[in-house]
Amino acid sequence: MNALPEYGFGTAKIRNSGPLRQEFQHRKLFHKRAPIIESLFAYRDTVRLHMPGHRGGKGADPLLLSLLGHNAFVSDVTGVPAMDELHEPHGCIRKAQELAADLFGADQTFFVVNGTSGAIHTMVLSALNDGDYIVIPRNIHKSILSAIILAGANPLFVQPVYEEYLGFALGVEERTLIQYLESNPDARKAKAVLLVNPTYYGTSQNLTSVCQAIHERSKLLLVDEAHGPHFHFHRSMPEPALRSGADAVAHGAHKMIGALTQASMLHIQGPGIDRARTKAWFQYLTSTSASYLLLASLDGARRQMALHGRELIERAIELANLLREEVNHISGLYCFGHEITGQPGVDALDPTKVTITVKELGITGYQAETYLRDRMGIQVEMSDLYNILIIVSFGNTGEDIRALLEGLRSLRHAVETGEIPETLQAAQQSVPNLPPVPEMALNPRKAIQGKCARLPLEQSVRRVSAEVVTCYPPGIPVLYPGEVISHETVDYLQMIRKLAFGISGPEDKTLSTLRVVEDV
Ligand SMILES: Cc1ncc(COP(=O)(O)O)c(C=O)c1O
Repeated sequence: MNALPEYGFGTAKIRNSGPLRQEFQHRKLFHKRAPIIESLFAYRDTVRLHMPGHRGGKGADPLLLSLLGHNAFVSDVTGVPAMDELHEPHGCIRKAQELAADLFGADQTFFVVNGTSGAIHTMVLSALNDGDYIVIPRNIHKSILSAIILAGANPLFVQPVYEEYLGFALGVEERTLIQYLESNPDARKAKAVLLVNPTYYGTSQNLTSVCQAIHERSKLLLVDEAHGPHFHFHRSMPEPALRSGADAVAHGAHKMIGALTQASMLHIQGPGIDRARTKAWFQYLTSTSASYLLLASLDGARRQMALHGRELIERAIELANLLREEVNHISGLYCFGHEITGQPGVDALDPTKVTITVKELGITGYQAETYLRDRMGIQVEMSDLYNILIIVSFGNTGEDIRALLEGLRSLRHAVETGEIPETLQAAQQSVPNLPPVPEMALNPRKAIQGKCARLPLEQSVRRVSAEVVTCYPPGIPVLYPGEVISHETVDYLQMIRKLAFGISGPEDKTLSTLRVVEDV
């Protein structure tokens, strides 16, 4: 380990300029180091008279030890002086975060151990105060709503483009966003715009001009790029948000590159966000006993991407394209590729996200997922009414792809022979159009803090919702806390109750009742 070169901090960095590949060659020298992993190696033989209680595995339950292995326990240390302290990093964590910032082109990077949700919470709370306005797409991940609730801020919703045939939402069109920022008096006062880019399905928007328009209006651009940390490492990937000029970006390092589950990053750049404030919120929201397993995994994922990112992503793209091509030869299945770009709300596609549309087989995506899992031993990422979603990673092999293709051929056969009933038509009959976006009568935090009651759906007209209600498709919430429940919304939900849709958010998933604010 001593033979490794020094970290190289303080030397000139090439950032956001020149071709990507050149940038990485410049960085390779430094990125062979892995400060947290190296510190954990150095700490292995220390006599431990401190937390955690398993003492490097010697006190661990044997069954758990045999599952996780000795090394996991030996590396599960706490913030002792020989290591570092996530809240006030000055040693290996600081160096590792600096390496990550250097790689991603951020001014500062925080290692986050409570998921991308944690990164989003810190990002939003760094930007907003009580009563501030923030413009967001209506189909955000729930961590964004919880961040807005924690901040006591007011969300202003813009509708994303909805892709009718595929049955899911794309991005918000640039002109829709700009028009909203200009025409809505509250939006004109908004401190920030938060965009989710790419979508779960891998469609992405070019944020450079959007970012410019947002900055010209003296607002911050925050980006939930949970599904895009790998964009930095291959030219065929969509443009990363940091390179488009975003002020803060949340990355799911555990989702799309090789970190352990929960391990995420928050990147900050430029003068828009007060970094002392970000640090303070990061501390308020983060455990004082951050897991070194997660931190080491972020260090390793950064190192791996810096040294081999391009080849690894290239491999994933090749496998995904092979899968896409073969799927499109199976009758009844469809898998979109780059032809989706150019339609409103889509400028680019992450080819490693493979959406397989099964609707022409007459079955739902849920049925396809169940069959593949129960009969073929294959677990996909997700399913919805019309699709199953596959994420192809550099960790996958040709064998995995072959197994999936065999599973899909077997699925088609099972439909043809009647083993899988064709339930899609019944499930999707008369899918109603979404009702108009409701009026927001109360700040969402006040709505959930207020006294609440559960009312039969029909009696909830003109009351204020205390919960989120989302139906799949379209996966765009019908109600948020604080919104007034209209006649149209109740009619829509009554129709939805009769259909076999995915419903997420409300306490009562049958939608017989809704939770409303009592004293408004
Ligand atoms: C777009 C998006 N943002 C944020 C999150 C939250 O990530 P995590 O589960 O790591 O907290 C998710 C989770 O799936 C997501 O899809």
